[in-house]
Amino acid sequence: MIKSPTIIFSHTYKYTKINTISEYYYETVNKSMNDTLIVIDRDATMRSVNKATCDLLEYEEDELIGKDMSLIVQQKDIIDSAEYQTLMSESPIVNKEIDYVTKRGKHIPMLFSAAVLKNKEGKAEGVVCIARDITEQKRADEALRESEKELHYLSSQLLTAQEKERRRLSLELHDELGQSLMVLKLKLRSIREGLPTDHARLEAECDDLIGYINGVTENVRRISRDLSPSILEDLGLSAAIRWLVDAFTEHSNSKCSLDMIEMNDHFPMEGQIIIYRIIQECLTNIAKHAHATMASIIIKKQDDRIFFCVEDNGKGFNTEEAFRKHPGKKGLGLATMYQRARMLGGNLDIWSQEGSGTKITFTVPLAERGYRS
Ligand SMILES: Nc1ncnc2c1ncn2[C@@H]1O[C@H](COP(=O)(O)OP(=O)(O)O)[C@@H](O)[C@H]1O
Ligand SMILES: [Mg+2]
Repeated sequence: MIKSPTIIFSHTYKYTKINTISEYYYETVNKSMNDTLIVIDRDATMRSVNKATCDLLEYEEDELIGKDMSLIVQQKDIIDSAEYQTLMSESPIVNKEIDYVTKRGKHIPMLFSAAVLKNKEGKAEGVVCIARDITEQKRADEALRESEKELHYLSSQLLTAQEKERRRLSLELHDELGQSLMVLKLKLRSIREGLPTDHARLEAECDDLIGYINGVTENVRRISRDLSPSILEDLGLSAAIRWLVDAFTEHSNSKCSLDMIEMNDHFPMEGQIIIYRIIQECLTNIAKHAHATMASIIIKKQDDRIFFCVEDNGKGFNTEEAFRKHPGKKGLGLATMYQRARMLGGNLDIWSQEGSGTKITFTVPLAERGYRS
Protein backbone atom coordinates (compact mmCIF):
# COMPACT_ATOMS: atom_id res chain seq x y z
CA MET A 1 0.00 0.00 0.00
CA ILE A 2 1.18 3.52 -0.75
CA LYS A 3 1.05 5.59 2.40
CA SER A 4 0.80 9.23 1.40
CA PRO A 5 4.04 8.99 -0.60
CA THR A 6 3.16 12.20 -2.39
CA ILE A 7 3.42 14.16 0.81
CA ILE A 8 6.80 12.63 1.59
CA PHE A 9 7.97 13.31 -1.93
CA SER A 10 6.73 16.85 -1.87
CA HIS A 11 8.90 17.53 1.17
CA THR A 12 11.87 15.75 -0.42
CA TYR A 13 11.48 17.73 -3.62
CA LYS A 14 11.32 21.07 -1.86
CA TYR A 15 14.33 20.08 0.14
CA THR A 16 16.38 19.03 -2.86
CA LYS A 17 15.76 22.37 -4.47
CA ILE A 18 17.56 24.14 -1.68
CA ASN A 19 20.12 21.55 -0.81
CA THR A 20 22.46 20.35 -3.52
CA ILE A 21 23.89 17.50 -1.44
CA SER A 22 20.42 16.03 -1.42
CA GLU A 23 20.15 16.23 -5.18
CA TYR A 24 22.32 13.13 -5.34
CA TYR A 25 20.04 11.49 -2.77
CA TYR A 26 16.97 12.48 -4.79
CA GLU A 27 18.48 11.11 -8.01
CA THR A 28 19.28 7.80 -6.34
CA VAL A 29 15.80 7.43 -4.90
CA ASN A 30 14.30 8.46 -8.20
CA LYS A 31 16.27 5.84 -10.09
CA SER A 32 15.94 3.01 -7.64
CA MET A 33 12.32 3.21 -6.55
CA ASN A 34 10.01 0.58 -7.97
CA ASP A 35 6.95 2.80 -8.14
CA THR A 36 6.49 5.17 -11.01
CA LEU A 37 7.08 8.81 -10.18
CA ILE A 38 6.07 11.61 -12.49
CA VAL A 39 6.13 15.35 -11.86
CA ILE A 40 3.82 17.41 -14.04
CA ASP A 41 3.37 21.14 -14.12
CA ARG A 42 0.14 23.08 -13.79
CA ASP A 43 -0.95 22.35 -17.36
CA ALA A 44 -0.22 18.61 -16.97
CA THR A 45 2.99 18.66 -19.01
CA MET A 46 5.41 16.00 -17.78
CA ARG A 47 8.54 17.57 -16.32
CA SER A 48 10.20 14.62 -14.69
CA VAL A 49 9.76 10.86 -14.93
CA ASN A 50 11.72 8.23 -13.06
CA LYS A 51 13.31 5.08 -14.47
CA ALA A 52 10.46 2.86 -13.27
CA THR A 53 8.00 4.91 -15.35
CA CYS A 54 10.07 4.54 -18.52
CA ASP A 55 10.63 0.82 -17.93
CA LEU A 56 6.96 0.13 -17.27
CA LEU A 57 5.54 2.19 -20.09
CA GLU A 58 8.31 1.29 -22.57
CA TYR A 59 9.18 4.91 -23.37
CA GLU A 60 12.53 6.65 -23.40
CA GLU A 61 12.69 9.50 -20.92
CA ASP A 62 12.85 12.16 -23.66
CA GLU A 63 9.73 10.72 -25.30
CA LEU A 64 7.78 11.65 -22.19
CA ILE A 65 9.36 14.85 -20.94
CA GLY A 66 7.48 17.88 -22.31
CA LYS A 67 4.47 15.75 -23.34
CA ASP A 68 1.00 15.96 -21.90
CA MET A 69 0.24 13.46 -19.13
CA SER A 70 -2.80 12.32 -21.14
CA LEU A 71 -0.31 10.44 -23.34
CA ILE A 72 -0.01 7.80 -20.65
CA VAL A 73 -3.33 7.89 -18.84
CA GLN A 74 -6.61 6.89 -20.29
CA GLN A 75 -8.28 10.11 -19.33
CA LYS A 76 -7.98 12.32 -22.38
CA ASP A 77 -8.07 15.78 -20.90
CA ILE A 78 -6.68 15.71 -17.45
CA ILE A 79 -6.77 19.45 -16.85
CA ASP A 80 -10.48 19.74 -17.44
CA SER A 81 -11.29 16.83 -15.17
CA ALA A 82 -13.02 17.71 -11.94
CA GLU A 83 -10.55 15.56 -10.07
CA TYR A 84 -7.54 17.50 -11.37
CA GLN A 85 -9.22 20.75 -10.40
CA THR A 86 -9.90 19.45 -6.91
CA LEU A 87 -6.32 18.24 -6.71
CA MET A 88 -5.03 21.68 -7.65
CA SER A 89 -7.20 23.19 -4.98
CA GLU A 90 -5.22 21.13 -2.46
CA SER A 91 -7.00 17.79 -2.03
CA PRO A 92 -4.50 15.04 -2.69
CA ILE A 93 -5.59 11.93 -4.59
CA VAL A 94 -4.82 8.85 -2.53
CA ASN A 95 -4.75 5.28 -3.80
CA LYS A 96 -7.09 5.67 -6.73
CA GLU A 97 -7.21 2.86 -9.26
CA ILE A 98 -6.50 4.14 -12.76
CA ASP A 99 -4.97 2.73 -15.94
CA TYR A 100 -1.66 3.84 -17.43
CA VAL A 101 -1.22 3.14 -21.15
CA THR A 102 2.12 1.89 -22.51
CA LYS A 103 3.72 3.02 -25.75
CA ARG A 104 2.24 -0.09 -27.41
CA GLY A 105 -1.24 0.72 -26.11
CA LYS A 106 -1.35 -1.86 -23.35
CA HIS A 107 -3.41 -0.85 -20.31
CA ILE A 108 -1.79 -1.35 -16.92
CA PRO A 109 -3.86 -1.03 -13.72
CA MET A 110 -2.16 1.33 -11.27
CA LEU A 111 -2.73 2.44 -7.71
CA PHE A 112 -2.31 6.16 -8.11
CA SER A 113 -1.63 8.97 -5.65
CA ALA A 114 -0.98 12.62 -6.39
CA ALA A 115 -0.36 15.84 -4.49
CA VAL A 116 0.29 19.43 -5.42
CA LEU A 117 3.85 20.68 -5.43
CA LYS A 118 4.22 24.25 -4.12
CA ASN A 119 6.93 26.84 -4.37
CA LYS A 120 8.31 28.89 -1.47
CA GLU A 121 5.46 31.36 -1.73
CA GLY A 122 2.97 28.53 -1.42
CA LYS A 123 1.87 28.78 -5.04
CA ALA A 124 1.04 25.53 -6.82
CA GLU A 125 3.77 24.76 -9.35
CA GLY A 126 2.73 21.33 -10.42
CA VAL A 127 1.78 17.90 -9.25
CA VAL A 128 3.79 14.93 -8.15
CA CYS A 129 2.24 11.60 -9.12
CA ILE A 130 3.27 8.26 -7.71
CA ALA A 131 1.69 5.04 -8.94
CA ARG A 132 2.22 1.32 -8.43
CA ASP A 133 1.59 -1.41 -10.96
CA ILE A 134 -1.14 -3.60 -9.45
CA THR A 135 -1.51 -6.09 -12.31
CA GLU A 136 -0.34 -9.00 -10.12
CA GLN A 137 -2.51 -7.95 -7.20
CA LYS A 138 -5.54 -7.71 -9.51
CA ARG A 139 -4.77 -11.13 -10.95
CA ALA A 140 -4.44 -12.59 -7.45
CA ASP A 141 -7.70 -10.91 -6.37
CA GLU A 142 -9.47 -12.35 -9.40
CA ALA A 143 -8.02 -15.82 -8.75
CA LEU A 144 -9.12 -15.57 -5.12
CA ARG A 145 -12.64 -14.55 -6.17
CA GLU A 146 -12.76 -17.45 -8.59
CA SER A 147 -11.60 -19.99 -6.05
CA GLU A 148 -14.03 -18.59 -3.46
CA LYS A 149 -16.83 -19.06 -5.99
CA GLU A 150 -15.69 -22.60 -6.64
CA LEU A 151 -15.48 -23.31 -2.92
CA HIS A 152 -19.02 -22.07 -2.39
CA TYR A 153 -20.22 -24.18 -5.27
CA LEU A 154 -18.44 -27.27 -3.99
CA SER A 155 -19.66 -26.88 -0.43
CA SER A 156 -23.24 -26.32 -1.57
CA GLN A 157 -22.96 -29.48 -3.71
CA LEU A 158 -21.56 -31.31 -0.71
CA LEU A 159 -24.40 -30.18 1.55
CA THR A 160 -26.97 -31.20 -1.05
CA ALA A 161 -25.32 -34.61 -1.45
CA GLN A 162 -25.16 -35.01 2.32
CA GLU A 163 -28.86 -34.23 2.61
CA LYS A 164 -29.67 -36.77 -0.10
CA GLU A 165 -27.56 -39.44 1.60
CA ARG A 166 -29.15 -38.69 4.97
CA ARG A 167 -32.58 -39.13 3.44
CA ARG A 168 -31.57 -42.45 1.89
CA LEU A 169 -30.19 -43.72 5.19
CA SER A 170 -33.23 -42.46 7.08
CA LEU A 171 -35.62 -44.30 4.76
CA GLU A 172 -33.49 -47.44 4.86
CA LEU A 173 -33.43 -47.38 8.65
CA HIS A 174 -37.13 -46.70 8.91
CA ASP A 175 -38.33 -49.09 6.23
CA GLU A 176 -35.81 -51.94 6.32
CA LEU A 177 -34.59 -52.07 9.88
CA GLY A 178 -37.87 -50.83 11.36
CA GLN A 179 -39.77 -53.45 9.39
CA SER A 180 -37.38 -56.26 10.38
CA LEU A 181 -37.69 -55.33 14.05
CA MET A 182 -41.46 -55.39 13.72
CA VAL A 183 -41.34 -58.89 12.19
CA LEU A 184 -38.99 -60.04 14.98
CA LYS A 185 -41.38 -58.71 17.60
CA LEU A 186 -44.44 -60.39 16.02
CA LYS A 187 -42.56 -63.69 15.76
CA LEU A 188 -41.51 -63.49 19.40
CA ARG A 189 -45.05 -62.68 20.43
CA SER A 190 -46.40 -65.72 18.56
CA ILE A 191 -43.71 -67.95 20.15
CA ARG A 192 -44.69 -66.59 23.55
CA GLU A 193 -48.35 -67.27 22.89
CA GLY A 194 -47.55 -70.82 21.71
CA LEU A 195 -45.64 -71.68 24.88
CA PRO A 196 -47.13 -74.34 27.15
CA THR A 197 -48.65 -72.79 30.28
CA ASP A 198 -45.99 -74.07 32.68
CA HIS A 199 -43.12 -72.09 31.06
CA ALA A 200 -43.34 -68.93 33.10
CA ARG A 201 -39.57 -68.28 32.94
CA LEU A 202 -39.52 -68.43 29.11
CA GLU A 203 -42.60 -66.21 28.96
CA ALA A 204 -40.85 -63.62 31.11
CA GLU A 205 -37.76 -63.78 28.88
CA CYS A 206 -39.95 -63.29 25.78
CA ASP A 207 -41.55 -60.25 27.45
CA ASP A 208 -38.12 -58.85 28.24
CA LEU A 209 -37.02 -59.34 24.67
CA ILE A 210 -40.18 -57.72 23.31
CA GLY A 211 -39.57 -54.76 25.60
CA TYR A 212 -35.96 -54.59 24.39
CA ILE A 213 -37.06 -54.68 20.75
CA ASN A 214 -39.53 -51.88 21.46
CA GLY A 215 -36.64 -49.79 22.81
CA VAL A 216 -34.46 -50.50 19.77
CA THR A 217 -37.39 -49.67 17.45
CA GLU A 218 -37.86 -46.33 19.22
CA ASN A 219 -34.14 -45.56 18.84
CA VAL A 220 -34.19 -46.47 15.16
CA ARG A 221 -37.18 -44.17 14.66
CA ARG A 222 -35.42 -41.33 16.45
CA ILE A 223 -32.19 -41.75 14.48
CA SER A 224 -34.16 -41.98 11.25
CA ARG A 225 -36.13 -38.82 12.11
CA ASP A 226 -32.96 -36.91 13.11
CA LEU A 227 -31.30 -37.91 9.86
CA SER A 228 -34.11 -36.67 7.69
CA PRO A 229 -37.13 -35.06 9.22
CA SER A 230 -40.10 -36.75 7.59
CA ILE A 231 -42.35 -34.27 9.42
CA LEU A 232 -41.14 -31.69 6.89
CA GLU A 233 -42.49 -33.72 4.00
CA ASP A 234 -45.62 -34.79 5.86
CA LEU A 235 -46.65 -31.57 7.55
CA GLY A 236 -44.45 -28.78 6.15
CA LEU A 237 -41.87 -26.31 7.46
CA SER A 238 -43.97 -24.53 10.10
CA ALA A 239 -45.00 -27.82 11.76
CA ALA A 240 -41.41 -29.06 11.61
CA ILE A 241 -40.15 -25.90 13.34
CA ARG A 242 -42.85 -26.24 16.00
CA TRP A 243 -41.69 -29.81 16.52
CA LEU A 244 -38.04 -28.66 16.83
CA VAL A 245 -39.05 -26.10 19.46
CA ASP A 246 -41.04 -28.70 21.41
CA ALA A 247 -38.12 -31.14 21.34
CA PHE A 248 -35.76 -28.33 22.40
CA THR A 249 -37.94 -27.36 25.37
CA GLU A 250 -38.30 -30.97 26.39
CA HIS A 251 -34.60 -31.82 26.28
CA SER A 252 -32.91 -28.59 27.40
CA ASN A 253 -33.23 -26.43 30.50
CA SER A 254 -34.38 -23.40 28.52
CA LYS A 255 -37.79 -22.20 27.46
CA CYS A 256 -38.31 -21.15 23.86
CA SER A 257 -40.90 -18.73 22.49
CA LEU A 258 -42.00 -18.97 18.90
CA ASP A 259 -43.56 -16.15 16.89
CA MET A 260 -43.93 -17.42 13.34
CA ILE A 261 -46.00 -16.83 10.23
CA GLU A 262 -47.30 -19.86 8.37
CA MET A 263 -44.89 -20.42 5.51
CA ASN A 264 -45.48 -23.88 4.15
CA ASP A 265 -46.18 -22.61 0.65
CA HIS A 266 -43.29 -20.18 0.49
CA PHE A 267 -40.39 -22.50 -0.30
CA PRO A 268 -39.79 -25.65 -2.31
CA MET A 269 -38.78 -28.75 -0.34
CA GLU A 270 -35.01 -28.21 -0.77
CA GLY A 271 -35.36 -24.68 0.62
CA GLN A 272 -37.48 -25.90 3.53
CA ILE A 273 -34.85 -28.48 4.46
CA ILE A 274 -32.09 -25.84 4.40
CA ILE A 275 -34.09 -23.47 6.65
CA TYR A 276 -34.94 -26.34 8.96
CA ARG A 277 -31.24 -27.28 9.24
CA ILE A 278 -30.19 -23.71 10.09
CA ILE A 279 -32.78 -23.43 12.86
CA GLN A 280 -31.94 -26.92 14.08
CA GLU A 281 -28.26 -25.95 14.38
CA CYS A 282 -29.15 -22.70 16.20
CA LEU A 283 -31.22 -24.61 18.76
CA THR A 284 -28.63 -27.38 19.12
CA ASN A 285 -25.96 -24.75 19.80
CA ILE A 286 -28.15 -23.06 22.41
CA ALA A 287 -28.78 -26.40 24.14
CA LYS A 288 -25.12 -27.41 23.87
CA HIS A 289 -23.24 -24.19 24.59
CA ALA A 290 -25.38 -21.27 25.74
CA HIS A 291 -26.60 -22.17 29.27
CA ALA A 292 -29.56 -19.95 28.48
CA THR A 293 -32.81 -19.73 30.43
CA MET A 294 -34.70 -18.30 27.47
CA ALA A 295 -34.56 -18.61 23.71
CA SER A 296 -36.83 -17.06 21.12
CA ILE A 297 -37.57 -17.58 17.46
CA ILE A 298 -39.19 -14.92 15.30
CA ILE A 299 -40.13 -15.61 11.70
CA LYS A 300 -41.88 -12.87 9.77
CA LYS A 301 -42.42 -11.58 6.27
CA GLN A 302 -40.54 -8.42 5.26
CA ASP A 303 -41.49 -7.20 1.77
CA ASP A 304 -40.28 -9.86 -0.64
CA ARG A 305 -38.34 -11.86 1.91
CA ILE A 306 -38.77 -13.90 5.04
CA PHE A 307 -36.83 -12.80 8.10
CA PHE A 308 -35.66 -15.33 10.68
CA CYS A 309 -34.23 -14.52 14.11
CA VAL A 310 -33.08 -17.00 16.74
CA GLU A 311 -31.95 -15.44 20.00
CA ASP A 312 -30.86 -16.64 23.43
CA ASN A 313 -29.98 -14.98 26.73
CA GLY A 314 -27.08 -17.34 27.41
CA LYS A 315 -23.37 -16.86 27.95
CA GLY A 316 -22.57 -15.66 24.44
CA PHE A 317 -19.21 -16.09 22.75
CA ASN A 318 -16.50 -14.21 20.94
CA THR A 319 -17.50 -14.66 17.28
CA GLU A 320 -14.14 -13.53 15.88
CA GLU A 321 -12.31 -16.05 18.02
CA ALA A 322 -14.70 -18.83 17.03
CA PHE A 323 -13.98 -18.17 13.36
CA ARG A 324 -10.24 -17.70 13.88
CA LYS A 325 -9.87 -21.17 15.39
CA HIS A 326 -7.81 -23.68 13.49
CA PRO A 327 -10.04 -25.47 10.91
CA GLY A 328 -9.35 -28.82 12.59
CA LYS A 329 -10.37 -27.48 15.99
CA LYS A 330 -13.51 -25.51 15.23
CA GLY A 331 -17.00 -26.88 14.76
CA LEU A 332 -18.66 -26.82 11.37
CA GLY A 333 -22.04 -25.63 12.61
CA LEU A 334 -21.65 -21.87 12.19
CA ALA A 335 -19.72 -22.09 8.90
CA THR A 336 -22.34 -24.44 7.46
CA MET A 337 -25.09 -22.06 8.56
CA TYR A 338 -23.52 -19.27 6.48
CA GLN A 339 -23.19 -21.58 3.51
CA ARG A 340 -26.79 -22.76 3.80
CA ALA A 341 -28.10 -19.18 3.94
CA ARG A 342 -26.07 -18.41 0.80
CA MET A 343 -27.60 -21.41 -0.94
CA LEU A 344 -30.99 -19.77 -0.41
CA GLY A 345 -29.76 -16.49 -1.88
CA GLY A 346 -29.89 -14.92 1.57
CA ASN A 347 -27.38 -13.77 4.13
CA LEU A 348 -26.83 -14.57 7.75
CA ASP A 349 -25.54 -12.43 10.63
CA ILE A 350 -24.37 -13.47 14.05
CA TRP A 351 -24.25 -11.07 17.00
CA SER A 352 -22.80 -12.41 20.19
CA GLN A 353 -20.92 -11.09 23.14
CA GLU A 354 -19.58 -12.95 26.11
CA GLY A 355 -22.17 -12.58 28.87
CA SER A 356 -24.82 -11.04 26.63
CA GLY A 357 -26.37 -13.89 24.69
CA THR A 358 -26.42 -14.63 20.99
CA LYS A 359 -28.62 -13.51 18.14
CA ILE A 360 -28.61 -15.07 14.70
CA THR A 361 -30.63 -13.55 11.89
CA PHE A 362 -31.01 -14.46 8.26
CA THR A 363 -33.31 -13.44 5.46
CA VAL A 364 -34.40 -15.52 2.53
CA PRO A 365 -35.73 -13.88 -0.62
CA LEU A 366 -39.01 -15.29 -1.87
CA ALA A 367 -38.52 -14.43 -5.52
CA GLU A 368 -35.18 -16.15 -6.05
CA ARG A 369 -34.83 -19.59 -7.61
CA GLY A 370 -38.56 -19.70 -8.25
CA TYR A 371 -39.55 -19.54 -4.59
CA ARG A 372 -43.19 -18.63 -4.32
CA SER A 373 -44.24 -15.61 -2.28
N1 LIG B 1 -25.77 -19.87 21.13
C1 LIG B 1 -24.48 -19.98 21.53
N2 LIG B 1 -24.12 -19.60 22.78
C2 LIG B 1 -22.83 -19.68 23.20
N3 LIG B 1 -21.82 -20.13 22.43
C3 LIG B 1 -22.10 -20.53 21.17
C4 LIG B 1 -23.45 -20.48 20.64
N4 LIG B 1 -23.42 -20.92 19.36
C5 LIG B 1 -22.14 -21.23 19.11
N5 LIG B 1 -21.34 -21.00 20.18
C6 LIG B 1 -19.87 -21.15 20.25
O1 LIG B 1 -19.37 -21.21 18.92
C7 LIG B 1 -18.61 -22.40 18.74
C8 LIG B 1 -18.79 -22.91 17.32
O2 LIG B 1 -20.10 -23.42 17.09
P1 LIG B 1 -20.33 -24.49 15.96
O3 LIG B 1 -19.66 -23.99 14.72
O4 LIG B 1 -21.79 -24.77 15.88
O5 LIG B 1 -19.51 -25.77 16.44
P2 LIG B 1 -19.85 -26.84 17.57
O6 LIG B 1 -21.28 -26.65 17.99
O7 LIG B 1 -19.62 -28.15 16.89
O8 LIG B 1 -18.87 -26.57 18.68
C9 LIG B 1 -19.11 -23.34 19.80
O9 LIG B 1 -18.14 -24.29 20.16
C10 LIG B 1 -19.44 -22.42 20.94
O10 LIG B 1 -18.28 -22.10 21.68
MG1 LIG C 1 -22.86 -26.51 16.63
